[in-house]
Amino acid sequence: MEEVYKNLIEAARQAREAAYAVYSGFPVGAALLALDGRVFTGCNVENLSFGLTTCAERTAVFTAVAAGVRQFQGLAVVTGNPEPVTPCGACRQVLREFAPGLWVVCATIAGKIRIFSLQELLPHAFDSFSA
Ligand code: THU
Repeated sequence: MEEVYKNLIEAARQAREAAYAVYSGFPVGAALLALDGRVFTGCNVENLSFGLTTCAERTAVFTAVAAGVRQFQGLAVVTGNPEPVTPCGACRQVLREFAPGLWVVCATIAGKIRIFSLQELLPHAFDSFSA
């Protein structure tokens, strides 16, 4: 596997350790690679009011944007699922806002990986409107 994927998966694996997933029992880690090489990580943060939960991917995007970074090349997502998990629909749209050309590597703790482009995960995205 390419080094860039390995490093990003390792960052996401570490981020997963901070997940607050007390209701689902499904911790998720994400790591976003900026165009300048910096890495921003996130984990899922759940809430007793379940709908307020934020996914790991959006935590990573918002952390990066809050640090002034808006251009990204790749994302790694790590879960303990038997098969790699892809970002949910809401996260795909949020990712697309900043990085339509993103690659997404979905990995399991056991070492299975699948690689996608955001374009294939979110075809026909909402990307403009006229008022
Ligand atoms: N979750 C993520 O953080 N990212 C995903 O890609 C899928 C789902 C979280 C939300 C919730 O905390 C838990 O996983 C179960 O849905």
